[in-house]
Amino acid sequence: MIPINKPAIGEEEKNAVLKVLESLQLTDSSFEGGKFVREFEKIFAEYVGVKHAIAVNSGTSAILAALMALEVGKGCETLTSGFTFASTATTSLLLDARVKFVDIELETYSISVNDLARKLSGAAKVVLPVHLYGHPAQLDEVIEEAEKYGVFVVEDAAQSLGSKYRGKMTGSLGIMGCFSLYATKIVTCGEGGVITTNDDALAEKLKMIRSHGQVKGYDSKVLGLNLRMPQIEAAIGIEQLKKIDSFIKARRKNALFYNEEFSKLENIRLPIEKDYAEANWSIYTVYVKRRRNEILQYLRERGVGATVYYPIPLNRMEVFMKHVEFEPLPNCEDAAEHVLSLPVYPTLTEKELNYVVKVFKEAIRTFL
Ligand SMILES: Cc1ncc(COP(=O)(O)O)c(C=O)c1O
Repeated sequence: MIPINKPAIGEEEKNAVLKVLESLQLTDSSFEGGKFVREFEKIFAEYVGVKHAIAVNSGTSAILAALMALEVGKGCETLTSGFTFASTATTSLLLDARVKFVDIELETYSISVNDLARKLSGAAKVVLPVHLYGHPAQLDEVIEEAEKYGVFVVEDAAQSLGSKYRGKMTGSLGIMGCFSLYATKIVTCGEGGVITTNDDALAEKLKMIRSHGQVKGYDSKVLGLNLRMPQIEAAIGIEQLKKIDSFIKARRKNALFYNEEFSKLENIRLPIEKDYAEANWSIYTVYVKRRRNEILQYLRERGVGATVYYPIPLNRMEVFMKHVEFEPLPNCEDAAEHVLSLPVYPTLTEKELNYVVKVFKEAIRTFL
């Protein structure tokens, strides 16, 4: 099986893990974090072009901590797209806030600015645009709409490390950016997350929140949790970040190869990059007009690990049906029924790429 994604792990990451093990400093609960965590944060912040990067133990923790730092809670409303990973929105519910879902643009799968403008009101506290599949959302327009009501913009950049919006890194334009380092992400350390910000006070608060609200130790000042990133993960992350440019270059090459090969197929829509966007191509997603599940099955039976991100739009997901007032989201529902993603990871061989192309073309000709 050619999996949907494969982490590119080399000798550098293996040696980095050994170095941490030999140091016997596996974690560090201090406010500033351990040596490897601090180094990882420094190079992450430099890469994204922000003053602060705060490492945590998952992308979900990054979003939760960002919302906690903004004091999102009972009586607050947050808005996000209805076509994303669940934790973009469950984090608000966990804090007892209200969630409102916004529809998407079908061309890019990112938040619809028109629908956002319709749904934003003085009741809102935070909007979370998601840079889905690594393609940036229309940040200028989202920020402009949010500013009308004094609403904070927290970027869900879980999938978009290295993607640029009008030449600037995603995660550097909102009040905070939240990244994931989960195993399928462009840069991974197994599990991990990062919050980026230019705001000194928020950075301080985030460091407290990730370690029980403490500053000096056993002096909890605000509500916090244990969201700390272990040193081994940080050491792997350092090595992965050194390679990110080559990862993105290879993904782009693979994605453009697919786009070229599939350009003559009918009844499908290929992924694009808008003129304001430079995607990291973390996920390569095709929209097929009909019979998506049969196409998916055909690919899988032939060893192509095609996957659907995401098969259920959030307005129809069980957890949200219990907690969020139902509203139809036509484009989210359409996307959930018609998209599928193909492997695009950097270590795909030419033979594997050609095989994916062959099987995908066969599938499209068979079912469409
Ligand atoms: C858009 C989006 N938001 C949030 C997350 C949560 O990140 P994690 O799985 O690291 O908790 C993910 C990752 O799965 C994601 O893709």
